[in-house]
Amino acid sequence: MNIQTSPGISRQELMRAAREDAYAMPIEDFHPGAPQLFRNDTLWPYFERLRNEEPVHFCATSPVGAYWSVTKYNDIMHVDTNAGIFSSDLSLGGIMLRDPEPEYMWPSFIVMDEPQHGPQRKAVAPMFAPAHLDELAVAIRTRTADVLDRLPRNETFNFVDRVSVELTTQMLAALFDFPWADRRKLTRWSDVATSLPKSGVFESEAQRRAELAECGDYFARLWNERVNAAPRSDLISMMAHSDATRRMDRANFLGNIILLIVGGNDTTRNSMTGSVLALSENPEQFEKLRDDHSLIDSFVPEVIRWQTPLAHMRRTALQDTELGGKHIKKGDRVVMWYVSGNRDSEVIDDADSFIIDRAQPRRHLSFGFGIHRCLGMRLAELQLKIVWEEILKRFDAIEVVDEPKRVYSNFVRGYETLPVRINA
Ligand code: HEM
Repeated sequence: MNIQTSPGISRQELMRAAREDAYAMPIEDFHPGAPQLFRNDTLWPYFERLRNEEPVHFCATSPVGAYWSVTKYNDIMHVDTNAGIFSSDLSLGGIMLRDPEPEYMWPSFIVMDEPQHGPQRKAVAPMFAPAHLDELAVAIRTRTADVLDRLPRNETFNFVDRVSVELTTQMLAALFDFPWADRRKLTRWSDVATSLPKSGVFESEAQRRAELAECGDYFARLWNERVNAAPRSDLISMMAHSDATRRMDRANFLGNIILLIVGGNDTTRNSMTGSVLALSENPEQFEKLRDDHSLIDSFVPEVIRWQTPLAHMRRTALQDTELGGKHIKKGDRVVMWYVSGNRDSEVIDDADSFIIDRAQPRRHLSFGFGIHRCLGMRLAELQLKIVWEEILKRFDAIEVVDEPKRVYSNFVRGYETLPVRINA
């Protein structure tokens, strides 16, 4: 599992080498969470083999310790919907394959089990209620149109920065009622909070610590303003005025803030970039969409399945249990690979193909299931729907002119750059 990208190797050669490696290596040596597989997008044959030969797999040694991989759709559903057996609790290890670093043990409600989880989730849920989303849609459309209208013509630009990051950052700033001119700080804090030390996003742990402390101080200021004012419909005010969250300590406060930033930012951003890439790699699907804009409704969930912006969620077994004929012991780490379950052809027809008019496009795992099912899923779908309605009104095509640069992470499946061009 050491397929490296190098300038002289084409994508086809890289994929061929990965396939050979995946089928030559003893399956017990697999470490499917190796971030390099995600950076160069060579994960597919390894997960294909796991689904076919050992769908619940134990990796005994890896740089981040031992872990189980759950790779098939229905097994993942089983884990995700049995929170009494498979815990998200931060003190046991939380939701990422890699254990949390002790100095960043900030409990947010995504890393809590019941009874703590539910009340904190409820405090911010009204933000994502259908009636409120209808209100948000108006502003999202105006901002989207503005960002698209400013794009250059006849020159190469980075879609990630000019469109995906800008639009998701604007969406988040609106949810927090965050000072508009400083909104890129949200993107930066999200990147710093989720990136691995080797990703190149920050130079040193000291820098990371300082930036996240700045995030905490900034939000504490906003909190202090809003806790003493009348309740409003932004996320900070909602938490400041809810019984479940108004007395959070600083760690819990910071944890929830970062959850809401990261939850909304990386995921929606990478779905947006992924949508352009998927259509470029599947031009016949783009033609279908251009000919019939009503297909946007099924295209959006198909993009979210195809991209799987969060590759995995992890749980820790609270008791001995069995899954796929394997004995999982209390305390074991169990990783649900959504990215693999979304390619399980026993549940999703022709799962490796990108098909924008599928019969059941919402049958995918990208938003998880069970008590932690994504709170922002309707908002993410709304933002993607609007961006494509507005793109199709304006442009004949967005041409991808070079390979994307992918993020070095087994958690966030995303892009640093995607060079594109729009012809006048
Ligand atoms: C395409 C976009 C998105 C994807 C793929 C996504 C994915 C996920 C996943 C996989 C989970 C965990 C589910 C589980 O453990 O079963 C989750 C939870 C969550 N997401 Fe999203 N998300 C997206 C957009 C958003 C947005 C826009 C927001 C809000 C601004 C958001 C906020 C949250 C929150 C707060 C949770 C925690 C829910 C809980 O613990 O009860 N997400 N999301």
